[in-house]
Amino acid sequence: MEAAIWSPSGSNAQAWEFIVVEDDDDIKKIKTFSPGIFGNPAAIIIVCRDLKRAYELCGELGRDILSVMDISMASQNIMLAAYDLGIGSCAVRSFGISAIKRLYDLPEHINPELLITLGYPEETPKPPKRREINEVVQWHNR
Ligand SMILES: Cc1cc2nc3c(=O)[nH]c(=O)nc-3n(C[C@H](O)[C@H](O)[C@H](O)COP(=O)(O)O)c2cc1C
Repeated sequence: MEAAIWSPSGSNAQAWEFIVVEDDDDIKKIKTFSPGIFGNPAAIIIVCRDLKRAYELCGELGRDILSVMDISMASQNIMLAAYDLGIGSCAVRSFGISAIKRLYDLPEHINPELLITLGYPEETPKPPKRREINEVVQWHNR
């Protein structure tokens, strides 16, 4: 979580909140409304956007765009820090947003956007294919 809060954010708005779920019963519950979770994670971090804070500090741009970028950066930081600790992770967007809101009694302006599932991996899967660098990068060299 230290890695998360040190992520960059537009205008340093830090319009994010995180819910760390380690309770087995809660994890089981979350799985029932999250078709995007395939494994059995030991923990789940729920990454939320604070729409009120984002709007108050940075207006519509903050609420609609910057805050999405901010939580994405924080999520990547979490996943890289986890990897560094030998912990596997998966970003999961396919989950019941309103069910999470109900489960943790979240106010209207706190939007759960991404789950990060965490656990010690049973295997090291082959990485999925990537598009070629030269297909996606324009080089403009000096
Ligand atoms: C925004 C976002 C949403 C994702 N949602 C899911 C999901 O709901 N379920 C899942 O199993 N993986 C999900 N993933 C993981 C991607 O499927 C995965 O990152 C991609 O296939 C590339 O694989 P790699 O991360 O192992 O390189 C998501 C990734 C991102 C960035």
